[in-house]
Parts: sequence; C-alpha cells; structure tokens
Amino acid sequence: MKFFVDTANIDDIRDLASTGLLDGVTTNPTLIAQSGKKFIPLIEEICDIVSGPVSAEVAATDYETMRKEAEILRKIADNVAVKVPLTPAGLKVCKELSDGGTMVNVTLCFSPAQAILAAKAGAAFVSPFVGRLDDVSMDGLSLIADIVTIYENYTDFTTEVLVASVRHPLHIVESAKMGAHVATCPPDVIRKLYNHPLTDKGLAAFVEDWKKTGQSIL
Ligand code: E4P
Repeated sequence: MKFFVDTANIDDIRDLASTGLLDGVTTNPTLIAQSGKKFIPLIEEICDIVSGPVSAEVAATDYETMRKEAEILRKIADNVAVKVPLTPAGLKVCKELSDGGTMVNVTLCFSPAQAILAAKAGAAFVSPFVGRLDDVSMDGLSLIADIVTIYENYTDFTTEVLVASVRHPLHIVESAKMGAHVATCPPDVIRKLYNHPLTDKGLAAFVEDWKKTGQSIL
C-alpha cells in the first residue's frame, strides 16, 4: 500500500519524506488556505521534496476554466497529479488529460457508481472520502470494499483506489485488507501508525537489560 500525506504543510512533508516511507502528497483548496502560502510556488516546492505524485486541485467548477487551470497545474512538474472534482465537467477534463498522459486524481467520490465513471475517464486515482461518509452515519469503508471489488472485475480499469478523508489508523488497516492501492492521511494519522504500548514497554526493558551487560556495540 502506498502512503500519501494529505497536507500542504512543508515542515510535515519534509519530516515524513525523510522517513523514506512517503509515496506522495495530496492537497486541496482547504489545505492550501490553511498553509497561508501562494498555491503554485507551494506545489513547486512540494514537487521538489517528493518525487511521487503530488495532487494539485483545480479551483473552478466549469469545464472551460477548469481545463485552463489544469493546463497550468500539469506543467508545474512531471509528478503533478491534477485533481478534479467528480462532476461531469471534472470527468471531461479528466478524460482529456489522461488521454494526453497527465495523471489525474478524481476527488470527492462518495459512491461506487461515481468510481466507475472515474475509471472510465482514465483517472490515475479516485479518491473516495471515508471519514466524511462516517460523519453522516454511512459506512465509508464499505465504499472502499465496493470500489476495489468492482475495479478487480475489469482488467482495463487501471485507476488506483486512493482512500481519502482518513481519520485514524484503522481506516488504513481495513483499507489495506481490502486491497486499496493508496491511503492519503493527515500527518498525525501516519505518525500514529508507529505506536503500540507494548513496543514502548518492550524497548524500555531491552534498554535496561542491555545496560546490565556493560557492553557497547560501537
Ligand atoms: C483528499 O485528497 C482530501 O484532501 C482529503 O482526504 C479530505 O479529507 P477531510 O475530510 O479530512 O477534509
């Protein structure tokens, strides 16, 4: 499973990239607003730090403007994935960009039917939002299971399932069990994956016992 970080915070991106376990970055207009930085130079900076896909989202909702914005975004760097909403206009832009060899991330996916359309439009990624479905008492993870099953039925579907709106480690673990290709997670959720109280307890005991040997490896 690939890990993308869902943030526009450069410090977090640098820190997580330094682990060697980060495969990409996703941003959205909300995250850009939170960063307080200029969009295009920020995406350039992120693309310099991370060699994997970096999602940069269009701001417009109509086809013509979205298409022009996409043209600017795709030229920022080879690893930009242009992010478009799952709307008729967004999927039209997706199909054109994908046919031309640009990675597209189709965002705001909330149903298996929408995911089928994204795959038919040639998206590199579809982003089903698990947390936001959970928030309205719907089962976000069952959407992931449905999409993975559907995509496995069609070898011509090359779209990767990018689990989005991740709120906690179990979203990642359960999605991995289903075979989702990617999870995009807030930085704190990625950091939580490391944690287990028995790891801390076991390590403390090993450190104490090693001291008793009076030895040094170096
Ligand atoms: C996906 O790419 C989105 O940026 C993101 O996962 C949305 O998550 P949220 O529901 O926490 O805003």
